[in-house]
Amino acid sequence: MDKIIIRGGNRLSGTVPVSGAKNAALTLLPCALLTEEPVTLRNLPRLADIDGFQHLLNQFGVSTSIAGARPEDFGRVMTLQATRLTSTVAPYDLVRKMRASILVLGPLLSRAGEATVSLPGGCAIGNRPIDLHLKALEAFGAQIELAAGYVRAIAPDGGLPGGDYSFPIVSVGATENALMAAVLARGTSTLHNAAREPEIVDLCNLLVAMGAQIEGIGTSDITIHGVNRLHGATYMVMPDRIEAGSYACAAAITGGDITLAGARAEDMASTIQALRDAGVLVEQVRGGLRVASEGPLRPVTLSTAPYPGLATDMQAQLMAMLCLANGSSVLTETIFENRYMHVPELNRMGAHIETKGRTAIVHGVSKLHGAEVMATDLRASMSLVIAGLAAEGESQVHRLYHLDRGYERLEEKFALIGADVERVGGD
Ligand code: UD1
Repeated sequence: MDKIIIRGGNRLSGTVPVSGAKNAALTLLPCALLTEEPVTLRNLPRLADIDGFQHLLNQFGVSTSIAGARPEDFGRVMTLQATRLTSTVAPYDLVRKMRASILVLGPLLSRAGEATVSLPGGCAIGNRPIDLHLKALEAFGAQIELAAGYVRAIAPDGGLPGGDYSFPIVSVGATENALMAAVLARGTSTLHNAAREPEIVDLCNLLVAMGAQIEGIGTSDITIHGVNRLHGATYMVMPDRIEAGSYACAAAITGGDITLAGARAEDMASTIQALRDAGVLVEQVRGGLRVASEGPLRPVTLSTAPYPGLATDMQAQLMAMLCLANGSSVLTETIFENRYMHVPELNRMGAHIETKGRTAIVHGVSKLHGAEVMATDLRASMSLVIAGLAAEGESQVHRLYHLDRGYERLEEKFALIGADVERVGGD
């Protein structure tokens, strides 16, 4: 298996293009199930997860074609068309590999009146149940059965009546599934305590472009008036705020000065605040964001929270950056239990991090050293790359497939800003 070799110590500088957002793309793709007309998505990142989702949609009879992509381009344009659904079953083998597959449940149910989706099973960053997805669909009138590791959802009489649901905790995926289920319901549905992440806004914007009627977009109270049918649309995937934030941490830890081309500051306020509190200059420039070191990193106290709070998907990268801060930082992870698997690996690189339950204390050290490391999830893997960029000597990050799930052409992007990052075969 491939691994990445990082020779640390280079100060990053230059411009790096920000790709389309993975997590937005993974909820925009299943919208193609909601109409027989073509849906064209522009700025889709080239990622293993996107390929996996395309494959899953093909299983339902959705045709997919990719246009105009040259190998050297970042991003792709994909046209998806679900003229007729040939299956409404998402099998274990596909769902197991990609948890976001659960996002076909709402749109399949909405369009076909039934869906059978394998339960995603355990996950490296906690239990990650789907109970809220199912409760929201039930509130909209779906009948749900669980059997043999599958969830089967049926809309009685062929269509969902719609209803009201109040989330006990904020869930991005459950909000997305509920939205995609409600747009074709016979009546009006409301969601309370809905997730407000920018990716949810992106989803709502595509649904509206397809003819959906949604009020309260970007707020925690969303009303969806069901329509009889949706039509095709062409839509541009939003820039990836987590990818942008990851490169920002990489620039900051190396004392660098980079421009994130295409980054949208308004989606990243909490990350920008965390960087500024740590003494990093972040300013809006034409076409993106400039992130520049302004002397030693300062320690900060951070807590992850649903949007507009600090994204849990930025926790590991910020932690890596804070390993070299001038004092002790305190990080609290409130979204997922067990999301500190990068800590022992960072410590193997010379970091000094202690964890107690959901809190991590990052005692700043004066330097990190290269090591062979591996991580069990995507953002944790990126945190090791970030640490490796500032470490003395060579680091090897194994289990590259995690990074390939979520970072488009990582080593090429790092090369653009002067990092010494190389992908090699063998593990
Ligand atoms: C999405 C993102 C992921 C991000 C997370 C939180 C995608 C593909 N993934 O994941 O990168 O880290 O949001 O911002 O967009 N929960 C339940 N029951 C449920 C659903 C969730 O208890 O039915 C809990 C989870 O265990 C977790 C919390 O709710 O503790 C938030 O999870 P959620 O927002 O649903 O995360 P995902 O949508 O899976």
